[in-house]
Amino acid sequence: MWRTWRCLGRGLHTCDKWAHAPKEKVDCVVVGAGVVGLAIARAMAMRGREVLVVESGPTFGTGTSSRNSEVIHAGIYYPANSLKALLCVEGRKSLYSYCEEHNVPHKRIGKIIVATHPSQMSALEAIREKAHKNGVTDLRFMSDTQVFSTEPNLNCVKALWSPSTGIIDSHTYMMCLQADAELHGATFAFNSSVLEGNVSSEGIEMLVCSSEPSTVHDQADENSIILCAKTVINSAGLHATSLARRLRGFPATFVPKSYFARGCYFSLVGLKPPFSHLVYPIPEKGGLGVHVTLDLSGQIRFGPDVEWLDLDSDAIYEHEFDFSVDSKRAEKFYPEIRKYYPALPDGSLKADYSGIRPKLAGPLDPPADFVIQGQRDHGISSLVNLFGIESPGLTASLAIADRVCTMLCEGK
Ligand SMILES: Cc1cc2nc3c(=O)[nH]c(=O)nc-3n(C[C@H](O)[C@H](O)[C@H](O)COP(=O)(O)OP(=O)(O)OC[C@H]3O[C@@H](n4cnc5c(N)ncnc54)[C@H](O)[C@@H]3O)c2cc1C
Ligand SMILES: *[C@@H]1O[C@H](CO)[C@@H](O)[C@H](O)[C@H]1NC(C)=O
Ligand SMILES: *[C@@H]1O[C@H](CO)[C@@H](O)[C@H](O)[C@H]1NC(C)=O
Repeated sequence: MWRTWRCLGRGLHTCDKWAHAPKEKVDCVVVGAGVVGLAIARAMAMRGREVLVVESGPTFGTGTSSRNSEVIHAGIYYPANSLKALLCVEGRKSLYSYCEEHNVPHKRIGKIIVATHPSQMSALEAIREKAHKNGVTDLRFMSDTQVFSTEPNLNCVKALWSPSTGIIDSHTYMMCLQADAELHGATFAFNSSVLEGNVSSEGIEMLVCSSEPSTVHDQADENSIILCAKTVINSAGLHATSLARRLRGFPATFVPKSYFARGCYFSLVGLKPPFSHLVYPIPEKGGLGVHVTLDLSGQIRFGPDVEWLDLDSDAIYEHEFDFSVDSKRAEKFYPEIRKYYPALPDGSLKADYSGIRPKLAGPLDPPADFVIQGQRDHGISSLVNLFGIESPGLTASLAIADRVCTMLCEGK
């Protein structure tokens, strides 16, 4: 039944849609089948809850979860005791075990963080200290000659080696999470968008309609439904804040302001992969710097850069994000990359894909932490909101899911 809804007649106002749509009771609804929503759906289903995942895309992971670096982060850069630090370190350990148990392709290839100028040596030192506070105690300094013997194409004055950083096939990982969730009884409704909701003492009612483009103008009552859920987990990624603003009865003061920062990738074409480990410069504002990522086949990509988008977070609700990559941005990549890879030939970068970071801090603010809001934060027992789940959300996904389950079980 979930698969057959058609788009709501555009002429109808949402109040008419509320009046016409049939109601259906469900225990727990997860909004969004990105890697985080999938991990939460699996964890809730494994704890015996009846779970329905509502996803506007035609399948899982069509958002940020398939537009990232696919790096399993060690947990190096985040402020001590932040959710990013705690959930990255915990999530990384769980993720490696999960990959081993479920045969998800992954590789602990390690990463090299490079100082390319003597003035950056102290930054390298600071990174090591920060990592230590987060429990990442395996970083080792490498001299320029040690670096040269492992990565002859890499130019630096000094480097840090992180052996527990790795890469993962995130598509296979998400497929396994969905299969696990279904095995424990979870149901998935794809092509289905939550338009708005209504928070009451019994739970949350949500108006859901088909996001599949329709050729016929069906009646609204045939293609929309009101889900009456005991528990809702808002894991809508880039749309999480705008969705929260559309929940009547949920105080807008708890919805943080959102910002969006696009990150573009360029692939290296026409030459053999010059590196066999991940290579990162010293982080820049808003991102980790244009770094070298490798996929499991050894292909090299550079990115992502940081491009702040001028979007009003409310206006983006029914609007598609623009993921196109302007090939002119390559001009900025060449000099950045040549700081650590001087031999990069002209014309070797080809525009690849982009992802957009859901941010809770603007370009001039200090970086924000993940926000995972439950009853203790906003007073509503039926709702958990996940805001600002940018990097390292993929690495942290299993730990985020555990945290959400604990919050719901213990009424936090
Ligand atoms: C450029 C970039 C590089 C990154 N690199 C890494 C990395 O190397 N390692 C790492 O650990 N992390 C990385 N991340 C972070 C990681 O990709 C994200 O944290 C993670 O994918 C977030 O998953 P999610 O499920 O929260 O969001 P999403 O994947 O965006 O999923 C949200 C889903 O909700 C759906 N949805 C939205 N609104 C509605 C609605 N109203 N009704 C129904 N469905 C809805 C969307 O269609 C979408 O599928 C990177 C992020 C970016 C942008
Ligand atoms: C979702 O919609 C697309 C068309 O937009 C269609 O091809 C696909 O089969 C639909 N998927 C499901 C699960 O209904
Ligand atoms: C929302 O909930 C309130 C309180 O339960 C109710 O009075 C109102 O009719 C509901 N609105 C919709 C659109 O369902």
